[in-house]
Amino acid sequence: MTRHVVEFPQVDPNLLISSPRIVAVANQKGGVGKTTTVMNLGAALAERGAHVLIIDLDPQSNSTSGLGIDPSRARLTVYHLLAGEAGIDEVATPTAVPRLHLVPSQVALAGAEIELVGQEEREGRLRRALTALDGGFGYVLIDCPPSLGLLTLNALAAADQVLIPLQAEYFALEGLAHLLYTIQLVRMNLNPRLELAGILVTQFDARTTLAWDVLNEVRRAYPDKLYQTLIPRNVRISEASSHGQPVIVYDPTCRGAQAFRQLAEEVMNR
Ligand SMILES: Nc1ncnc2c1ncn2[C@@H]1O[C@H](COP(=O)(O)OP(=O)(O)OP(=O)(O)O)[C@@H](O)[C@H]1O
Ligand SMILES: [Mg+2]
Repeated sequence: MTRHVVEFPQVDPNLLISSPRIVAVANQKGGVGKTTTVMNLGAALAERGAHVLIIDLDPQSNSTSGLGIDPSRARLTVYHLLAGEAGIDEVATPTAVPRLHLVPSQVALAGAEIELVGQEEREGRLRRALTALDGGFGYVLIDCPPSLGLLTLNALAAADQVLIPLQAEYFALEGLAHLLYTIQLVRMNLNPRLELAGILVTQFDARTTLAWDVLNEVRRAYPDKLYQTLIPRNVRISEASSHGQPVIVYDPTCRGAQAFRQLAEEVMNR
């Protein structure tokens, strides 16, 4: 009897994802690189062919302006999404980067946190809104504010994974245990499928012994959770944001751009 061997063509596994991978980028510590990671990882994933949606869940609106969109001119924002006044299709808008879309934020979002307090299912607003997302997106990246308040809880309740940026600086690990404990509580009470995607060391300056000390400390404490990619301290990264562009667009060959491309590859293969 002859056996027929059926050969399937090789397909990029990322193109088979029918529901998006939802990643919350969170750390209650301010200025550690959450927004920078969301914008630039999002752009690098889009460059590799993925359809990416960034949700700016921070009233500071840094990822909105960092992607060249004026928050004060955005008509429908994540505020309207959380309030149930608009659907995800209405609030998501294209950016200048092909395949990269954004749900903008505005400062009024700060009020939403207070308005939500008395309401039912206040932690599940974003999750509910995202169920209406069509299958077109491969990744949803959520830029969280620097707190563990209701907005971050909405992100953690909606996400499949958390990515934690950690600045290679003094007190880097301070607060990390509290964040991991919060993730544990969210898993038990709101979202059992939430997992830790990884810890990303940011603003790494290889010339300082402090940066290496911090890196070694994180490696020791969380050996299998650390991304291999280190994001270097690179002035082109912050210049790019101030020009409303991801660094891979602003300066495609600089060290910062290369690092975010490498991170995108690591995220896609994990
Ligand atoms: N790798 C880097 N090299 C140089 N500058 C960087 C780098 N990463 C971030 N920055 C700069 O550091 C500042 C803080 O970064 P970012 O806004 O991404 O942090 P954040 O965690 O989102 O802050 P917040 O908690 O206020 O939301 C910004 O001015 C940004 O441009
Ligand atoms: Mg930010």
